[in-house]
Amino acid sequence: MDVRVSIIGTGNVGAATAFGLLSASTASELVLVDINKKKAEGEAMDLSHGVSFVSPVEVVSGDYSDCKGSRIVIFTAGANQKPGETRLDLAEKNTAILKQAIPELMKHCPDAILLMVANPVDILTYAALKISGLPPRQVIGSGTVLDSSRLRYTLSRHFGVDVRNVHAYIAGEHGDTEVPLWSLANIAGADLEHIDFFGKAPLDRQALFEETKTAAYHIIERKGATYYAIALAVRRICEAILRDEHSVLTISSLIEGDYGIRDVCLSLPSLVYAGGRERILDLPLSHQEEGLLRHSAGELRKVLSGLGF
Ligand code: LAC
Repeated sequence: MDVRVSIIGTGNVGAATAFGLLSASTASELVLVDINKKKAEGEAMDLSHGVSFVSPVEVVSGDYSDCKGSRIVIFTAGANQKPGETRLDLAEKNTAILKQAIPELMKHCPDAILLMVANPVDILTYAALKISGLPPRQVIGSGTVLDSSRLRYTLSRHFGVDVRNVHAYIAGEHGDTEVPLWSLANIAGADLEHIDFFGKAPLDRQALFEETKTAAYHIIERKGATYYAIALAVRRICEAILRDEHSVLTISSLIEGDYGIRDVCLSLPSLVYAGGRERILDLPLSHQEEGLLRHSAGELRKVLSGLGF
């Protein structure tokens, strides 16, 4: 069966995502859409020329009508962070783009899972949900899937353990008020406190978290943008959807009462399945973590209110 995935926006993130999906044979049809039609066309040509090296896949460029029948629409279009800008600085500009694009997408592919990636991702996920009128399970954001991966990577380096055996989540806003869920972090089932048997220096949790939280700023300072790791995070989310995996991922989605939070989109460990977000997990967080999550939600709510949501 054909699996069509569309990518709106073929800047760095959209193009890297297309490459990631192509090289892992995640989809059998990729549709690339950009207001700069030539850019989308060029990316589709470039990617198509590598198709003989991967499983059969068709890569085309087109407009919103070509997204018809997509299982997932990945939304990466929008202005990106300049050095010194926060993700929230982009809110107004990128919400305006959604107001035009989402109604068009709804005409052609109302059944697709809408996967928001452009920043500020939590704000745009909420905006896309409201503009589209789709059910909350169907509109998700890449959220802190990448941040969780960054934290796991740093922990894996600290302990000298394969990152795949490190379990740790970052939740809340994908941005400055994000929250590390240390109470859930473990390696091989052991709490991080109980793993001095690895003989490592004590973990400086705060320093490690700061490194994770500010990672994008440091990369943007050096190369102007981040795109490879986010592209792989997006591919991982797409796999969970297309294979109906019920995987635990910190995607962003509408929160309706969990941990005392409501009416914002932010990331919490959630089950991801063919229909998008199946549910948010009710996990034993510390009071402090719950408090920080509510603070993060409050900051996002202020931005949403400022935008008229
Ligand atoms: C980052 C961008 C995707 O964190 O927000 O790299």
